[in-house]
Amino acid sequence: MPAIKVRTDMMDSKPYAPGLTIEEIKEKYDLDTVIKLASNENPLGASPMAQKAINRHAPSVFRYPHNGNPRLNKAIAQRTGVSEEQIISGNGSDEILDLLVRIKANPGQDEVLTYESCFSMYRLMSRLCAVNFRQIPRAEGHKQPLKALAAAVSEKTAIVFMTSPDNPTGLAVTVDEVRELASAIPEQTLLVIDEAYIEFARPAEKYDMRGLLNEFPNMVLTRTFSKAYGLAGLRIGYGIMSPQLAGYINSARAPFTVNLLAEEAGIAVLKDEAFFNTTMDVVLRGRELYTKEIRAMGCEVLESQSNFIMFKPYPGNPEKDAMEVFEALLKRGIIVRPLKSFGLGEYIRVNMGTDSENKTFLKALKEVL
Ligand SMILES: Cc1ncc(COP(=O)(O)O)c(C=O)c1O
Repeated sequence: MPAIKVRTDMMDSKPYAPGLTIEEIKEKYDLDTVIKLASNENPLGASPMAQKAINRHAPSVFRYPHNGNPRLNKAIAQRTGVSEEQIISGNGSDEILDLLVRIKANPGQDEVLTYESCFSMYRLMSRLCAVNFRQIPRAEGHKQPLKALAAAVSEKTAIVFMTSPDNPTGLAVTVDEVRELASAIPEQTLLVIDEAYIEFARPAEKYDMRGLLNEFPNMVLTRTFSKAYGLAGLRIGYGIMSPQLAGYINSARAPFTVNLLAEEAGIAVLKDEAFFNTTMDVVLRGRELYTKEIRAMGCEVLESQSNFIMFKPYPGNPEKDAMEVFEALLKRGIIVRPLKSFGLGEYIRVNMGTDSENKTFLKALKEVL
């Protein structure tokens, strides 16, 4: 039988490598309980109102959802204070990132520009679309290199991707800094700000880019229901952009990618103020605690505006690998994210859990160090 061939540039693709699941860890280390603090999920679990909506609509799943999810878009528009024509919802914000690359960048000609140690999806989506992917070094202290990004844009740059609050550093850039970047970028280059963690940034008005959308029609914000809204498993995200760009995407995209239960749960969770507010309380309290306690253990901790922090367990000792800490925590039933795959081998990323999970993690970390 002849071997199947695919596009030559796809033959050596490596699959996305998510961490081990809770069940896999339990089995491997013979543990009864495992605390997962590795994927920046919501510590409270799923909103009760979202769960009720899923149950209520389960009998309807033999129907197709309404194409383009107009009810969900309307609910998102109301919540975010923009018009419905500016919203594209998708199967996770990953789908929005994918659609942006596909609609904007010419395969084999254009490039996507971002910085090193960034969220891996920008590279993956660019490769899939046969678009060159270029990264520049981060600024001092792992900051987003805004001035260098502006300087690195070329006539081939179809999209600049920037994450704020950033994954994996947790660092956020201000509205004024982004205005300066946007002013320096050509009108025909999209500036995509990935705001997957924006709900956790404080003070909100310093970091929230919505006010810039009218000034810069080439700006796009992407957001998600996977973090602050606790629906990672349902896969819902959205983009906020100019109505014209949204129109192009709507005309070109595959239909029905946000399924019926996801749509109903998304609409329900936007009304669940109690769930959202408790999530914010727990995460912000945990962030303060982590930062203070982990610094007190002698680690380097970055200033996070997100629902996770990035830290270097042994700042004075580059010989010591963060992998050791990761593995020692794993044996104690705590999953964190070592950042080797981001090119930051000396660092670990850990998200805030419930108050009691945070306490257990900090105790374990102290023992390990
Ligand atoms: C920076 C960033 N963008 C986007 C996403 C993807 O979110 P979604 O679950 O909506 O696809 C993540 C998920 O971890 C992320 O960290």
